[in-house]
Parts: sequence; structure tokens; C-alpha cells
Amino acid sequence: MGTRNFALYIVATACLLNVSLQGEHQRRLYKDLMTNYNPLERPVFNDSHSLTVHFSFSLMQIMDVDEKNQVLTTNIWLQLYWNDYYLRWNTSEYPGVANVRFPDSQIWKPDILLYNSADERFDATFHTNVLVNSSGYCQYLPPGIFKSTCYIDVRWFPFDVQRCDLKFGSWTYGGWSLDLQMVAADITGYIPNGEWDLVEVPGRRNERFYDCCKEPYPDVTFTVVMRRRTLYYGLNLLIPCVLISTLALLVFLLPADSGEKISLGITVLLSLTVFMLLVAEIMPATSDSVPLIAQYFATTMVIVGLSVIATVLVLQYHHHDPDGGKMPKWTRIILLNWCAWFLRMKRPGEERVQLACHNKQPRGSLSSVELNASTAPPQSTNGNMLYIGFRGMGGMESVHYATTPDSGVICSRLVATGEEEMLLPGAPAPPAGGGGDPELAKILEEVRYIAKRFHDQDRDESVCNEWKFAASVIDRLCLMAFSLFTILCTIGILMSAPNFVEAISKDFT
Ligand SMILES: *[C@@H]1O[C@H](CO)[C@@H](O)[C@H](O)[C@H]1NC(C)=O
Ligand SMILES: *[C@@H]1O[C@H](CO)[C@@H](O)[C@H](O)[C@H]1NC(C)=O
Ligand SMILES: *[C@@H]1O[C@H](CO)[C@@H](O)[C@H](O)[C@H]1NC(C)=O
Repeated sequence: MGTRNFALYIVATACLLNVSLQGEHQRRLYKDLMTNYNPLERPVFNDSHSLTVHFSFSLMQIMDVDEKNQVLTTNIWLQLYWNDYYLRWNTSEYPGVANVRFPDSQIWKPDILLYNSADERFDATFHTNVLVNSSGYCQYLPPGIFKSTCYIDVRWFPFDVQRCDLKFGSWTYGGWSLDLQMVAADITGYIPNGEWDLVEVPGRRNERFYDCCKEPYPDVTFTVVMRRRTLYYGLNLLIPCVLISTLALLVFLLPADSGEKISLGITVLLSLTVFMLLVAEIMPATSDSVPLIAQYFATTMVIVGLSVIATVLVLQYHHHDPDGGKMPKWTRIILLNWCAWFLRMKRPGEERVQLACHNKQPRGSLSSVELNASTAPPQSTNGNMLYIGFRGMGGMESVHYATTPDSGVICSRLVATGEEEMLLPGAPAPPAGGGGDPELAKILEEVRYIAKRFHDQDRDESVCNEWKFAASVIDRLCLMAFSLFTILCTIGILMSAPNFVEAISKDFT
């Protein structure tokens, strides 16, 4: 028991002794180092020699890329290493003191600054202690949130790669007194950013000569190369824009009678404008280069605008007044012949006419209506009954009667050939066998009048149908042309980005 107590006593005393001794050494060392030390003095053995400062940085985080103000905000730890000639000591004279720390104002420090700083205080570093070991080797690692100016080129937004320079150098020392040497940047502690992928951080040492003196002014420039991650903008801007431009094509599919063609076009135009405003909010107000996405939006807007104009034309054709005249010859040839042929469109009823012509059967038409006065039984005329006989009873099927609500007159959809139409004006005179029955003549006149009305209506309707068909041809033509144009623009504009494929393959998979 006694030996154990003794041993404990020995250990405790040794510890106390050691602690007190080390504290003493430290105090002595600080006192010895600081006597005659002047922090203004460049710590070199020979004043003609240059002091070498090794410079590096570790990039911790890309905090913000402000496209509008062209400012990059990064979290960086600077690393500066140099040898202080006056801060050396013999470790055996100060046992246990391997290194000492000095607050930044107590010893000499290189005045390394970020040249392209955009910070309010300019130097954004937190001034930490300088660690010095016994050979006078100083380690200074000030961390800081750096705001640096960076020309952000949004030409290829959102498929852009940005290169931001961070230029560090001594503010007052030239290359002959302070030789700045670069050490490669360290990105092992980098925290990934949601918006940007860090590609690389290459660095280089530059020497710059000014007019004043022969002395070179060295600086170390690191370039932060980062690629924008496209998924966010793809989902929030590009896909809606592609969808909206596809919707714009539906304007041409919508029937003209629905009365919604124009409102659909205008709605699409408005929603595009909303998205364009979103883009404009992100982008800097620069006219240097138009961003890719703005180009795309502008093109889509032009397409939608043109489609609204085309729709107005289509509606104008569709609701053309039959009294407004027939279609001009060339319009008819181009639209109804060439375009319709090209688009493989058939006029409504065209097939029916062909079918009927094929049958070569006389069809019931008003021109073939004849008064069967002579052959009709006498009692029928007496009873004021009109017996209308159809010469071609086989044509009965092709006669459909319909009552149009707007006109209130019977509208007959008769399929008549030209020859029969020609017959009508020269309708046969009242049969002589009638014996000049005044009642019969009156009836005949009435029937002629009805026939004329039918004929007029027929003609109006065929004119109307022609215009309507022209409208649908234009619609179809626009659908084709605009679809092609939209696809070409989408592919052409988006694919023109230099790293489009890379961005898509990295972000969308
Ligand atoms: C200092 O360096 C210069 C040039 O290297 C040399 O000429 C000079 O003799 C040196 N002075 C001392 C005291 O060593
Ligand atoms: C360090 O101090 C010890 C003891 O005072 C001495 O023997 C040794 O030579 C010194 N070393 C140097 C490098 O000055
Ligand atoms: C001081 O640190 C430097 C760099 O780490 C090293 O090369 C040097 O040997 C150290 N000196 C002592 C005495 O440990």
C-alpha cells in the first residue's frame, strides 16, 4: 500500500512540475520572441532576399451565383505558408513547446487580398491565429465568405458552364520582396451544391508588370469551373414551354364552329408571357447575349402569335358571307386543288357525288318535277291537290329535307349535276294540254318559285361549303407547317447548347 501511495504522489508531483515548467517555457518563449520583434518588418535574413509565400485555398462551398448582379459567393479557407526568420527557437531550450500561436496583428503577415472582391468590407476573411513551429514556419489559414465579381455569361442558360476567377495577390509587395507561389487548390471538403456541379478548380500563377517599375507583381488566380444542373429549369421552365407550344398547335385542330379558337390561342400566348417573365427575373438585364431559353421562349411566342393570326384568317374564311362573292380563282386553285391534294383532303360530299355519277342514274331534282296535269286523274286537280311525279323514282333516296332553324325555310340538300341545274332556268312552259287553266298556271308559278328558292339556297350553300372547305384546308396546312416549325425550333435551339447532351445525361438520369 505504501509503495502505491508513493507512486501516486510521484506522478502527481511530476505532472504539476511539468505543467508549471511548460507554462514557464511558453511565457519565456513568447517574451523572447516578441522582444525586438516588429510586425512591420519583413522577416527575412537579408533584406535583398525575397520572402516566399505559398498560397492555396480549399473550396468549401459554392453559396450563391447571382446572375443578375454578377457576384459569386463562396465559402473558402485560404492557406498561406511562409518562413519567419525571427520566430525560430531551439526546442531543447524550451522543452515541450513545439509550436506557438500569434494573433494576426502581433506578427508580420503577407497582405494577400482577393483582387476581384465584391464584398462591402473588401477583405472578407476572419483573422485567425498564425501557427508557428520552431523552425519559424508560419501557417495562416483564414476562412471567409468571399464575394467575388464574376462575369456570368447566360448565353447558354440553362445549359451553361460558368468560369469564375478568384485572383489573389499581395496588395503592396512586389515580386522581389514577396514571391507568391501557388499550391493546387483543395476540394476534398467541398459540399455539393444543388444548383451547380463543381467541375474543377484549376489555378495558375501570373506575373504582371506595371509601368512604374521593373518589378513583377505576381498573383495566383484560381478558376472555379461549374456546370449548372439542368433538372430544375428543365422541369420548371422547359417542359412547360414545350407543352404550351404543343397546345398552340391544338388551335388548328379545334373546329371553327366551337368559337374557342381565338381564346385558346390568346390563353396560350398569355401563359407563355408569364413564363417569360419568370425567366427575365432570373436573367441579368443585359443585351450582350440573349439567353438560349429566352430565344426559345421568344420563338415559341412568335409561333403562337402567328397561329393566332392564322386562326383569324381561318375564321374569316369559315364564316364567309355567301353574298360576299365567290372565291377568287387563284385562291381556289391553290387552296382547293393543290393544297387539298397535297394534304390528301377530300371535300365533304365529294365521294358521294362520285358514287352517284358512277351509277349514272337520273336523280330526283326539282328540275325534273313536272306537272302531271294531263295524266293526273281529274278529281285530283279539282280537289286542289297537286300531284307531283318524279321522273326518276330511283333518285328519291338522295333527297333529304331538313329545316334549318335560322332561315326557317326548307333547306334541301340535293346533289345535283350541272346539266340538271342548267335545265332549271329554262323550265318547260306550261303544258299546252292544260288548256290554259288559270289555277294550274298559278300553281306552276308557285312551284317555279319554290324551285328557284331551292336553287338559290343550293348555290349559297355550295359557296359556303367552298369557303368552309378552304378554311379547313388552311387549318390543316397551318397544323402541318407549325408542327414542323415547332419541332425544328425546339430541337434546333435547345440542341445548339454546347453541353446539352452532357447536361441531359447527367441530370435526367
Ligand atoms: C544580401 O544579399 C545580397 C544579394 O544576394 C548580397 O549581395 C549581400 O551581400 C547579402 N547581405 C548579407 C548581409 O548577407
Ligand atoms: C539547442 O540547444 C542545445 C542546448 O542548449 C544545444 O546543445 C544545441 O546545439 C542547440 N541547437 C541548435 C540548433 O542551436
Ligand atoms: C515546421 O513545419 C514545417 C512544415 O510542416 C516542417 O517542414 C518543419 O520540419 C517543422 N519544423 C519542426 C521543427 O518541426
